[in-house]
Amino acid sequence: MSKNLKLIIGSTRQNRNAKPVADWLVKTASEAGYDLSLLDLKEINLPKFDAGVSPMYAPVDTPEAKAWAAEIAEADGLVFLTAEYNRSIPGSLKDAIDYLYAEWNDKKVSIVSYGWIDGGGSATKHLTEILNWVKTKIVGPEIAIPFTEATFDEQFQFKDIDAALGGIKDDFIAQLEALSQ
Ligand SMILES: Cc1cc2nc3c(=O)[nH]c(=O)nc-3n(C[C@H](O)[C@H](O)[C@H](O)COP(=O)(O)O)c2cc1C
Repeated sequence: MSKNLKLIIGSTRQNRNAKPVADWLVKTASEAGYDLSLLDLKEINLPKFDAGVSPMYAPVDTPEAKAWAAEIAEADGLVFLTAEYNRSIPGSLKDAIDYLYAEWNDKKVSIVSYGWIDGGGSATKHLTEILNWVKTKIVGPEIAIPFTEATFDEQFQFKDIDAALGGIKDDFIAQLEALSQ
C-alpha cells in the first residue's frame, strides 16, 4: 500500500511562487506512483500562535491546533516546501511548526527550498536546525531550486516550469522513496 505523504506549503503571501512549485511536485510524485497531498498553510489559515506554554509541555487546546495536529499525526512522511525570506524560512511556516511538538517527534521529513540567492539554502539551513530540535528525522537529498532572470516572464509567472524544475526530479523521487521506507 502506498504511504500517506503530505507536502507543507510554507509561504502564504499573495502571488506566491510556492503554489505552482507545489503543484508541479504533486504531479511529479503522482507520475512516479506516490500518493502526495497538499497541506497549504494559506488554506489552513492557522491563527497566529499565542499559546500560554510551549507545546513541548502541553498541546495547544484549540480546534484549529487539534485539526493541524491530526493532519501531521496521520502522515507517514512530510515534504517541507520552503521559500527563503531574509535568509530564513517564512514566518507562516515557523508559526505552523511552533504550534506542535509531539506530532513532529520521529516524523520522517524532507526539505525542498527555492530562491534567488542559492536556491533558498539559508532557509534550509535554518529549517534543518528547527526540524532537528523538534526531533523529526530528515531523510533524502536536500533540494534547492535556484531562481534566475530566465525563470520568469514579465508578469513574474514561470516561463517554463518543467524546464525550471526538471533538474530536481530524480532527487525529489529519492526524497519520496526515503519518506516511504
Ligand atoms: C520578504 C521577502 C524576503 C526575501 N528574502 C529572500 C532571501 O533572503 N533570499 C532569497 O533567495 N530570496 C528572497 N526573497 C525572494 C524570494 O525567494 C521569492 O520572492 C520567492 O518567490 C518567495 O517565495 P513565495 O513566492 O512562495 O512567497 C524574498 C522575498 C520576500 C517576499
